[in-house]
Amino acid sequence: MSATVLKAASRRVDELRAELDRHNELYYRADAPEISDSAYDELINELRELERQYPSLLTGDSPTQRVGALPLERFEPAHHLQPMLSLANARSEDELLAWVDRMRTHLGREGIEVEEFRYVVEPKIDGLAISLIYRDGVLDRGATRGDGSVGEDVTANLRTIQAIPLRIEGDDVPALLEVRGEVYLPIAAFAELNERRTEAGEAAFVNPRNAAAGSIRQLDPAAVASRPLSVWCYAIGATDGISFSTHWDGLQWLRAHGFAVNPEVICAVGIAEVIARCSWWEGHRDGLDYEIDGVVVKVDDHELQRRLGVVGREPRAAIAWKFAPTAATTILREVAWNVGRTGHMVPFAVLDAVVVGGVTVKLATLHNEEDLARKDVRPGDEVIVLRAGDVIPQVVSPAPGAVQRPGRSAPVLAPSHCPACATPTVKPVGGVWTICPNKTGCSGQQWRAVKHFVARGAMDIEGLGEERVSQLLSEGVISDAADLYQLTAERLAKLEGFAEISAQSLVAAIDASKAQPFARVLYGLGIEGIGEVNARNLAQRVRSMAALSQASPDEIAQTPGIGPVLANAIAEELREEAMVALISRLTEAGLQMQEEGLAPGDGPLDGVAIVLTGSLPTLTREQATQRILAAGGRVSSSISKKTDYLVAGESPGSKLAKAERLGVKVLDEAGLIGLLE
Ligand code: IVH
Repeated sequence: MSATVLKAASRRVDELRAELDRHNELYYRADAPEISDSAYDELINELRELERQYPSLLTGDSPTQRVGALPLERFEPAHHLQPMLSLANARSEDELLAWVDRMRTHLGREGIEVEEFRYVVEPKIDGLAISLIYRDGVLDRGATRGDGSVGEDVTANLRTIQAIPLRIEGDDVPALLEVRGEVYLPIAAFAELNERRTEAGEAAFVNPRNAAAGSIRQLDPAAVASRPLSVWCYAIGATDGISFSTHWDGLQWLRAHGFAVNPEVICAVGIAEVIARCSWWEGHRDGLDYEIDGVVVKVDDHELQRRLGVVGREPRAAIAWKFAPTAATTILREVAWNVGRTGHMVPFAVLDAVVVGGVTVKLATLHNEEDLARKDVRPGDEVIVLRAGDVIPQVVSPAPGAVQRPGRSAPVLAPSHCPACATPTVKPVGGVWTICPNKTGCSGQQWRAVKHFVARGAMDIEGLGEERVSQLLSEGVISDAADLYQLTAERLAKLEGFAEISAQSLVAAIDASKAQPFARVLYGLGIEGIGEVNARNLAQRVRSMAALSQASPDEIAQTPGIGPVLANAIAEELREEAMVALISRLTEAGLQMQEEGLAPGDGPLDGVAIVLTGSLPTLTREQATQRILAAGGRVSSSISKKTDYLVAGESPGSKLAKAERLGVKVLDEAGLIGLLE
């Protein structure tokens, strides 16, 4: 390759990165995007392609590196530089006043008199605490809190969160900066995720916090990237080369340097202002698109914070004002049913109206038949209703004592006829769920199937929300996903609510979805057990729809994450007449039915298992991983006899000794590059 070509590529790579960083900033921080999602995708794809062609241009802080690390076998422990503490709680005004008294007494003993404390008052985000370590401005490690001293190294997963800067810009970047914050899942995304999970027969998350924690603890960063997690940064931990005299100043610095600092954070002078803000929050928490479970009040002055010290694992200088929990009890009047995408019966609760966390609730989800049987709530029971993430209240269990009630009704069974199309339902032998067997003609299943097909993780067709799908189906314009590709703007323009322009843009969006990769098409088909992760793994392994349709359950079961039972069910569903017809019409419409890129088995490191340890002189962990992966190799996190090579950098730790003990070959970075080339 000539030096001029490389130079031109390098220039374009720099341009693209600057441009993408700018759009990320506009999108995630200013909430004012300048370009469409597809224009953004074009830029990132161009960058990805250049980095693939010229691997020497790939760097750890490239916007392409947010996703891309390989699934891990387990997380490495992460020792915190400073302990991650917790907070004492206050549930009343008196407890807040008592806290201030305790601080005064403590400082008084040291001869410090404070007339009026200055506080910072912040929403208490109900998510998962994380620590981000930046060395020389580059994100080096992200970790969960764990027990406060040792958490888990979840760097690859945190990198997928767009709101977390991979690099700090500016001329005052310290050698070391630890930023602490809370990862959360926005409420709407939580609702959507749960809907998808219950439809796919997976357990629903109880609340956005569990969903965020569950997401961050997934071993496959690509799966994490599919969840729209975000972060609010609320503190600075260990530093070298920078210091702040107040908490407020630290937050302003973070905000000015690209970190997401909650705009609702305020300064308050005197406890009366703090109390006013806490009670203001009681009435305003529902206006947020994320969950908060209280308010955190912090003494602003760092020197006072230091003097106040720590009791147990709680700093004296901060306290959490906790909201009342969002649970209530009411009477369950009836268990009613819907039909899910794959035809299974979905129960929901009809309740006596009850106010939960400020909102009147009359309906609540019961997730699925199995969940209902496990909870065993019956009409007439007093039940506990939890409003998780505002949107979808759920019935958690019978209230204490409800189970002993004399004259309690019988357990609720799934309906004998489909609530959407009245077809008699069946319970397949060995199955746990009752289903509507009317696969193609059931309006309920049609609606859910098309809704799933066009949704974000699948074909991602803009402008085709639930109501539009329902309109297209009920007007008879479509009856399944493949019909979408036959729609014309003229036909759409005749429908209520469409104008010429909106009809044209919908047709254009549908047309654009033909470029979505094979894995998304596969996921979009809505086959039970093929969620986003399985779809990606299957696509990677089996390569094409043609091959998948012919594959035996044994072949399907070679895919990571897919066991023999699921493989069998997948093979069966793919052979069903309706599915075969749908796939063939989607293929004719021009959707991607093949996986692009290098197949496993084609690269120079085909099947070679490599473990990385210590820091390498030029490649980051992700870059090395990417290059090994691109060459067909595997990267695992722990050494065993099956490991072919250990690539050791500086401070390799115990893995080097173990490799030597097991007789595993050890390479340095140059050795790895030799293998790759
Ligand atoms: S400051 C000394 N600020 O609440 C602890 N924490 O119970 C420093 N949290 O583990 C935490 N929002 O996960 C702080 N604005 C905020 C917060 C916040 C949520 C969480 C955090 C912490 C827990 C403490």
